[in-house]
Amino acid sequence: MRLDGIEITWLGHAAFRFRLDDGVTLLIDPFLAGNPLCPPEEKLPHRADAIFVTHGHRDHLGDTASIARSAGATVFSIFEIKRWLMQQGLEDDQTVPLNKGGTVSAPGGVSATFVHAVHSSGIYSEEGTINGGAAGGWVLDFPWGPTVYHAGDTDVFGDMKLIGELWDPDIACLPIGGHFTMDPRSAAKAAGLLGVETVIPMHFGTFPVLAGRPDHLREHGGGTFQVQEMTVGAPEK
Ligand code: NI
Ligand code: MN
Repeated sequence: MRLDGIEITWLGHAAFRFRLDDGVTLLIDPFLAGNPLCPPEEKLPHRADAIFVTHGHRDHLGDTASIARSAGATVFSIFEIKRWLMQQGLEDDQTVPLNKGGTVSAPGGVSATFVHAVHSSGIYSEEGTINGGAAGGWVLDFPWGPTVYHAGDTDVFGDMKLIGELWDPDIACLPIGGHFTMDPRSAAKAAGLLGVETVIPMHFGTFPVLAGRPDHLREHGGGTFQVQEMTVGAPEK
């Protein structure tokens, strides 16, 4: 979808690309190579200026390290994931650490805030599960207007109302699959707490267990917000 000079592309699961008119490209949770929903032509990003990571699970941290290496992207994440990325060979100045409540300036003039989520954040590796800090979400405030909240993996929580009051997001990318996150009923409640006009559903259908569907979200929302169902991959020109 296009929104005020931003092309928003869903790459399947929780992975999104925001491409600004000047070409600056931001990725959130780039789980691409192993993502059954990601189109083949999207598995190797041509350009990435920034990557935002919500938590350490493989279906979110995904290809962050390899994309950062190949595209030169700067990675924004909680401190523990930054340390892990440096162990993967990324440079100190290519990995920006922060924690919940922190706001950083990102490419494209975007103001990015790491916010709370109710979820876990282990990083799986051959040595076992590594502490990936805590799971969170991102609020991306684009300087000319729109504010997008990407919830990462989370259950609904009452302080989504605070996120709504503090950041006033226009759009929320919310997980609806259930099982590992909230389901459509809880996501409808989340949309109400956030006060958003538009919800982009995500984290459903990738695997059979993620059974929630946009239609269910629409039913539970009862018309109080718009459900923007995305087609995976680049929009047709
Ligand atoms: Ni997760
Ligand atoms: Mn997940």
